[in-house]
Amino acid sequence: MHCIKHIMENLLWVGANDRRLAMFEGVYSVPDGVAYNAYLLLDEKTVLFDTVDKAVQHRFLENLAEGLSGRPLDYLVLQHIEPDHSAAIEAVVNRHPNVTLVLNKKSAGFVSQFFNLNSAVKIMIVEEGDTLRTGSHNLHFIMAPMVHWPEVMVTYDEKTRTLFSADAFGSFGALNGAIFADEVNFGRDYFDEARRYYTNIVGKYGPQVKTLLKKASGLAIDMICPLHGFVWRKNLQDIITPYTLWSSYEPEEQGVMIAYASVYGNTENAAEILASRLRDAGIKTVMFDVSVTPASDIIAAAFKWSHLVFASTTYNAGIFVTMEALIYDLVAHNIQNRTVALIENGSWAATSGKLMRDKLAQCKNMRFIGEVSLKSSVKSEKLTEINALAAAIADTFITEKPAAPAQSPAHIDTNAMWKIPYGLFLVTARDKGKDNGCIVNTISQVTVTPLQITVYINKDNMTHDMILRTGELTVSVLTKSAPFTIFEHFGLTSGKDKDKFNSINRSWGRTLVRLENGLYGLTEHTNAIMSARVISSVDCKTHTIFIAEVTQAQNLNNEPSCNYDYYFTNIKPKPQLATKDKVGFVCKICGYIYEGEPLPGDFICPLCKHGAADFVRL
Ligand code: FEO
Repeated sequence: MHCIKHIMENLLWVGANDRRLAMFEGVYSVPDGVAYNAYLLLDEKTVLFDTVDKAVQHRFLENLAEGLSGRPLDYLVLQHIEPDHSAAIEAVVNRHPNVTLVLNKKSAGFVSQFFNLNSAVKIMIVEEGDTLRTGSHNLHFIMAPMVHWPEVMVTYDEKTRTLFSADAFGSFGALNGAIFADEVNFGRDYFDEARRYYTNIVGKYGPQVKTLLKKASGLAIDMICPLHGFVWRKNLQDIITPYTLWSSYEPEEQGVMIAYASVYGNTENAAEILASRLRDAGIKTVMFDVSVTPASDIIAAAFKWSHLVFASTTYNAGIFVTMEALIYDLVAHNIQNRTVALIENGSWAATSGKLMRDKLAQCKNMRFIGEVSLKSSVKSEKLTEINALAAAIADTFITEKPAAPAQSPAHIDTNAMWKIPYGLFLVTARDKGKDNGCIVNTISQVTVTPLQITVYINKDNMTHDMILRTGELTVSVLTKSAPFTIFEHFGLTSGKDKDKFNSINRSWGRTLVRLENGLYGLTEHTNAIMSARVISSVDCKTHTIFIAEVTQAQNLNNEPSCNYDYYFTNIKPKPQLATKDKVGFVCKICGYIYEGEPLPGDFICPLCKHGAADFVRL
């Protein structure tokens, strides 16, 4: 029996799910199954976008017949000829002999390689930028070579602003009734499988994915219909932003992935000691036994984490078999920009360290920071070396050490710093479906061409971590009309304690709008809003300096910008006067009162994160 889903008026999902497939493409386990999506547009002409894998062809043909309700199929758009999407071409043509196949030249070659279509089948060859009017819809064809095969193209429907994206933005996992990503908790339940899909299927082709993202950024897109996984109709940045990160081979998170291959547990012992020392230093770690965990999971993790450690015993004078396979696979997937450390083991002639290093050195921008060579098991001198390796790895992290005691040398008067003029800004970010924002005073334009800004943000702020992960931010320039409630809401509370956008002030909260990058900008009590994409960052101990390229900017009005002086003089309520019996210190920045004495030299204001130097006695 047919089982179709309505995507929107006149657009149906006519695909099918497979939960019995053990290995997708013969190599990737799919414990949650896989969806083969096909879409049917019912315009003056009927248009089918792709077919499905032969394993689910029967259900797909039932769905197609139901969707057409007796109408003939006019066009079959073939975006990707890999058989998981093309296997049913012959069956469709047999049922609709007058259908026209719409495909590019490369695809036509692949179709003739895979199938034996009747030479009478009608073919329409399209190229980059070609369009096809089907009635009220106008389809634009956009070439996307190597996302994931060379013939891939995507299709943009101008009327509904829908991108039929082929393999791009897809995911492993069958559809369990829901068709839209916003019907489920995608970030919690499906994001890991989307990462595993991306990294393993198209991870190798980052530059080509970037080219497609660049083309897509020039389109107004309201919906994305991929060939696997969910349809995206809301919060498109939740899938586009990770693609931007992954295709740049930038890590999602700071932390260490340790993959080890151990025959008798001694190499594993070394890996565990290293992981323990790293955790002692406050660094996140994940561990995989490469003989147990499927390579596709480890490849996905390698794309996620910033630091990679490979520990392998020597086997047949080489790298242990499962580790060798993993490293070859990782290199084939083009992993880049990682900090790497190695542990080798060998009872008489250890070679695995050098061999792993030689292979990984083929990848771009891999920074090797240390290696430990074991002879059979960890002895005390090797324990010292492992501890030293952990320390060397820890040194490369952005450490969150407490600020140094607020003691300034005699020749530094920190009051001089107060003479530097600053503006005040609301900076917003969005990560895994959650919005957050904070108030900052340090934003500057750096260059005009390209148009770049710097944004300094305290690492304690949740917004900081979100920007670090997503690389996207939006700035709203606050004006002198901004009420204290804005500063209080975004500057004196933490997104770690409350959802700032779910508890918004009604009067100015209603003026929040989402910009093109999906982030919020405030349009009242502000005079300009701009979005930017991070291209570089600098660790400055308590803060990170983000250097970002402006992607959107809007001048709203000519209200004067709020500066720090104006805020302190006219907006911020004056700190409470000290009562006679109160002993303590007040923060000059936000008015927080520390009761008692002495004020610890390394005290950090819990509200505004300024140090002891910015406190004065009550
Ligand atoms: Fe889903 Fe590249 O095929």
